[in-house]
Amino acid sequence: MGAEVVIEGLTKSFGRQAIWRDVTLTLPPGEVSAMLGPSGTGKSVFLKSMIGLLKPDRGRCVINGVDIVTCSEHKLYEIRKLFGVLFQDGALFGSMNLYDNVAFPLREHTKKSETEIRRIVSEKLEMTGLAGADKKLPGEISGGMRKRAGLARALVLDPQIILVDEPDSGLDPVRTAYISQLLIDLNTQIDATILIVTHNINLARTVPDNLGMLFRKELVMFGPREVLLTSDEPVVEQFLNGRKRGPIGMSEEKDSATMEREEAEAAAGHSDGSPDEDVRGVVAQMQPSPGLPERVGARRRMDRVMRILHTLPAAAQEGIIESLSPEEQRHYNVRPSHGAPVAAPARHGLADTQQIPRVTGPVPSQHQGELPADQVARIPGGWSGNPGNPGNTGEAPRPGSGYPPRNGPGGA
Ligand SMILES: Nc1ncnc2c1ncn2[C@@H]1O[C@H](COP(=O)(O)OP(=O)(O)OP(=O)(O)O)[C@@H](O)[C@H]1O
Ligand SMILES: [Mg+2]
Repeated sequence: MGAEVVIEGLTKSFGRQAIWRDVTLTLPPGEVSAMLGPSGTGKSVFLKSMIGLLKPDRGRCVINGVDIVTCSEHKLYEIRKLFGVLFQDGALFGSMNLYDNVAFPLREHTKKSETEIRRIVSEKLEMTGLAGADKKLPGEISGGMRKRAGLARALVLDPQIILVDEPDSGLDPVRTAYISQLLIDLNTQIDATILIVTHNINLARTVPDNLGMLFRKELVMFGPREVLLTSDEPVVEQFLNGRKRGPIGMSEEKDSATMEREEAEAAAGHSDGSPDEDVRGVVAQMQPSPGLPERVGARRRMDRVMRILHTLPAAAQEGIIESLSPEEQRHYNVRPSHGAPVAAPARHGLADTQQIPRVTGPVPSQHQGELPADQVARIPGGWSGNPGNPGNTGEAPRPGSGYPPRNGPGGA
């Protein structure tokens, strides 16, 4: 199984320019996660910080018990071997053909024979649809092909953690669908922990198990995909709908006067070309290609999510339960409420005599179950108080988003 990545209070600036602060999240092992965020919010800087190419000012990034922010160069070198990274620009060596580019990590980090290297490189080039292009130089191929070559190179060391920075940029929609499928298939085949940075709404909605978003120098949210897909947090909604109206502007963030003017214009019937209807809700997740085995990461994730179900917002709970098959609903002892409060708490993994603790307060804004409350991503508008974040009033959540009653079948 892929490695878990635990990030706590990570903060990064360049000189006086703060990029993001206090980023806390856990990439669950062997699951696929995606990080969204407007251009310039520091997504690429985040990936580079995760592999120690950039040094954060504060915080921890712990992989297999090693904090890569403070560890020695030697340890960092060892930890980096667990990673396969596709950089935003592909980062290929311009003077080497694709074959040598993809073979590079094997020659650098292993003692494999050239025969074995040929087998591995051919396999990865084939996997990424580049068979036959091995003699080409990066300057002789399209941007999309360079991207795929970068991905092939990221895979040769059988990484436990795969970071991919905008795998879809420069790809047409059909190739993007193929690369999305490739990422899901990869996760199925090698069970690696995957983090994808993307602007592609379709990919974000259908590929990852978990979604996060960076905005205004903070991690706005991170959690199971259903939480963001059903969220009414304005910045998340605007992004997932690709709308102009909302807090995100051309240069990252809008002032309130601009937002009010836009609202008034929209109310007066002005069309700004944004889609008329909002898409919100849990769409079906991409499955592994036919012929591949079940994705164990998906099964593990479902068990994990059902254990923390009661901590999630009501809309996310509903979306999760409705996406389960009838057998799964029976297995986890839940049923759709169709608007009524969700009936039964998830008991999977708990001994029969063990009760899920009754929580009477407002919805916790954490989505990661195992982490203590002060170490989890927060939902703005939730109760945990995140004063830097507009929209987070620190007040109790709205009616309807409350904790489901625990008096259903099997409840406390
Ligand atoms: N090495 C560096 N030195 C100084 N500033 C940097 C460096 N790398 C990135 N930045 C700055 O950090 C900010 C975030 O950059 P980053 O590339 O991470 O954005 P991004 O979210 O990946 O954007 P995009 O979606 O356009 O790729 C930018 O303002 C950028 O200029
Ligand atoms: Mg970037």
